Amino acid sequence: MTAHTTTAAAAPAPAADGRKIHQRDGMPHLFRPISFRSVTARNRIMVSPMCQYSAIDGVPNDWHLQHLGSRAAGGAGIVCVEATNTEARGRISPGCPGLWNDVQRDAFARIVTLIKSLGALAAVQIGHAGRKGSSAAPWNGGKQLALADGGWENVSASALSFNEGQRPPQAMDTATVQATVAGFAASARRAHEAGFDIIELHGAHGYLIHQFLSPLSNQRNDQYGGSFENRIRFLLEVIDATRSEWPEDKPLFVRLSCVDWVEGGITFDDTAKLVQLLKDGGKVDLIDASSGGLDPRQKIPLFPGYQTHFARDLKQRTGIATGAVGMISSPDLAEHIVASGQADLIIMARALLNDPYWPLHAAKVLKAKIAWPPQYERGDVF
Ligand SMILES: Cc1cc2nc3c(=O)[nH]c(=O)nc-3n(C[C@H](O)[C@H](O)[C@H](O)COP(=O)(O)O)c2cc1C
Repeated sequence: MTAHTTTAAAAPAPAADGRKIHQRDGMPHLFRPISFRSVTARNRIMVSPMCQYSAIDGVPNDWHLQHLGSRAAGGAGIVCVEATNTEARGRISPGCPGLWNDVQRDAFARIVTLIKSLGALAAVQIGHAGRKGSSAAPWNGGKQLALADGGWENVSASALSFNEGQRPPQAMDTATVQATVAGFAASARRAHEAGFDIIELHGAHGYLIHQFLSPLSNQRNDQYGGSFENRIRFLLEVIDATRSEWPEDKPLFVRLSCVDWVEGGITFDDTAKLVQLLKDGGKVDLIDASSGGLDPRQKIPLFPGYQTHFARDLKQRTGIATGAVGMISSPDLAEHIVASGQADLIIMARALLNDPYWPLHAAKVLKAKIAWPPQYERGDVF
């Protein structure tokens, strides 16, 4: 089955409680439903994965329930859980969640049920931190944790640290690479058992998959390093392993850092070549087009929508569906990006931290008639 995206422009958007709201042709593009394989999001707004550093032993709790639930109540079409890791040492921090055991799976199942009951699709970002693991939460300084302070030894493509002065990671041998790939498959199985609708693989921001992709962090001389074909092999194996446990009728997204913003790093042409292979392979449904995070020397030109051109160009070059992410906070900009065909989804992090009800408020600005949760309808007067 090939990945497909259909736009149900004329279909009424399902409200949080399942009611249909009719605003057919005039519905702003941001609020038109979109289908990936067997699932349909009620609009184009996705909550970007955001680490909460609040899990215990990788198990999400009431913090995650309210954080993700309130964003579903706020009207997002897709609510994506933060980077969720395939093994304990693959966590960014001790407070990051995982899907390496069934206790974690069952804790997620409760959260998934809430997200879906509020009319959103439930997504989970599955990843492995590699050399960026064993870090403190940002509010504790974010630095690499010493072993004596609850830190651990990291692994990576090569024995190269992210930053000077850090414990270097251990270069993974072939057996470890294969075990790690198998960890993605096991996490995908648990994600399905927990009821998630979408998996996003974390191939960006300098974490393990990105560490294999970039020539700056991958200096291996085996089948996983060197040439472009070798550096993408780990990601392709992770995709195959994930798909082996993830039903064909459920969509798979991949977040990529389209460039490293550092001389000698990944170029946009490399990324476009990779994405063409993913599109042709038919296993991946959407590219979440981000950038950077691999190298502290990066220089990123920041402005509203600063990464949107990656989503637009990947979509134009390869025909794959894309999500635009990065400093999108105005309803007009979000509407423009979707209406002009630059991206299929608007993926938002900080604006949705700031206001979980951003979608309901944006609908008002764009004059989209969408349903509020009935319990909150009396608040829809401003
Ligand atoms: C608190 C916080 C946590 C984040 N955690 C993750 C994460 O788990 N996975 C990820 O891919 N990106 C993560 N990001 C990056 C966001 O998903 C997003 O790509 C970035 O913030 C740019 O979007 P924005 O301008 O809408 O905030 C995080 C960002 C924030 C602010």
